[in-house]
Amino acid sequence: MKIDVLLGLQWGDEGKGKIVDVLTPQYDIIARFQGGPNAGHTIEIGGNRHVLHTIPSGIFHPDKINVIGNGVIVDPFILSHELEELRSKGVDARLNLRISKRSHLILPTHRMLDAAYEQALGNAKIGSTLKGIGPCYTDKTARYGLRCGDILSADFINRYNILKERHMRILNSYGFDINSLELDRMPFIEYEQHWFDAIEELKGYELIDSELFINRSLSEGKRILAEGAQGSLLDVDFGSYPYVTSSNTITAGVCSGLGVPPTSIGKVYGVFKAYCTRVGSGPFPTELNDAKGEELRGNGNEYGSTTGRPRRCGWLDLPALKYAIMLNGVSDLVMMKADVMNSFKEVNICTAYELNGKDIPDLTFETLSHPVKPVYTVLEGWQTRLEGISNFGTLPNQLSNYMHFIENAVKLPIGIISVGPGREQTIIR
Ligand code: GDP
Ligand code: IMO
Ligand code: MG
Repeated sequence: MKIDVLLGLQWGDEGKGKIVDVLTPQYDIIARFQGGPNAGHTIEIGGNRHVLHTIPSGIFHPDKINVIGNGVIVDPFILSHELEELRSKGVDARLNLRISKRSHLILPTHRMLDAAYEQALGNAKIGSTLKGIGPCYTDKTARYGLRCGDILSADFINRYNILKERHMRILNSYGFDINSLELDRMPFIEYEQHWFDAIEELKGYELIDSELFINRSLSEGKRILAEGAQGSLLDVDFGSYPYVTSSNTITAGVCSGLGVPPTSIGKVYGVFKAYCTRVGSGPFPTELNDAKGEELRGNGNEYGSTTGRPRRCGWLDLPALKYAIMLNGVSDLVMMKADVMNSFKEVNICTAYELNGKDIPDLTFETLSHPVKPVYTVLEGWQTRLEGISNFGTLPNQLSNYMHFIENAVKLPIGIISVGPGREQTIIR
């Protein structure tokens, strides 16, 4: 058996959570492979909205196993809240959630460091979600980190204190006072106590060698879907560095984040919005700082699922989409939120970037590091409501043309189109 992958092709928030939930019935196991609680994956079921940060988006299907893989970083406090939230909705994740012993722990001081680094960057700040992502992955690579499996060892507290001390020295060198900042509306000391309570709770969950579980499941013929977080343009190697997250968000991240060989990768679902959004700082060639941008934000309710920040909005960027499809080996394209542009008379698609008087058809190091001017093709809008449409054949012509334009440019068919946040608002070819 092969492991299928679903990930975002833009700057995150493409609608990955919704599509994972829709596809889950076809799988036995859903596994997150990277990222942490910087993610916010929204699922709407029967008009009720659920936002997941660490837990895979298959959790609403009680007969499916959900795995937090070794490549994920876990904040026990945030995870505990997510679990409590699920319990209040009648979902007992204890039964079908497994957590890799090798996944790294986000400490309270990682969140403090995130804040200190962002403060020090001033206007050059990344626009981090301030969940401690960068500092935690830094410690992982620097070989100082603590992992979920470590909470079971007798010297855990001692190792925690050593790492906390290291962080305090860095915070002091930045002149950062941990009492100047509240974490989840609590002073540090109180938050830290809750964090330790969450560590105790974590001991009640199934901590496993997820790489053994995943590979064994594959050899037993189980169907597995790997769920990505963030998006390809936030990848630490290929995204708009330094305005990126700290993990490999692309298909390659599945191999290191779950411990599967490249030969085990099957389908790759690439999810993109019919337009573009971005939260946080960094280049965004097709950004609209005008009424059209406001219209996208308003129609699409483009406010961060994790931080509530307004998302920057703009037209679809084809050079960036092609680049992401190339990096990921996408086999199946999924286009989200077409309904958000229902009101538009005309829609623009960026086909190249103009830099120093030349049109450049690809996303390159230069086009990401210099201000570029997008080159647009203008297409007719569909100005039709899309609810109630359940097959590709009855989509408005203008929307079909929009999709054909994209398909011709990227040389892949769009297999799924989403026309609303609900499970049922999904059209499969
Ligand atoms: P993720 O991080 O990729 O899972 O995406 P988010 O959940 O952060 O953001 C996607 C948002 O769009 C959520 O609020 C979804 O409920 C919503 N959504 C998903 N698909 C559609 C769609 O086709 N149309 C509309 N209007 N909203 C959608
Ligand atoms: P999902 O999985 C959108 C962005 C942040 C910031 C940059 C670095 O919901 O698509 P970090 O906290 O990782 O240090 O922030 O990355 N970012 C996201 N943007 N969706 C996400 O996740 C994101 N996770 C991080 O806004 O610009
Ligand atoms: Mg999101």
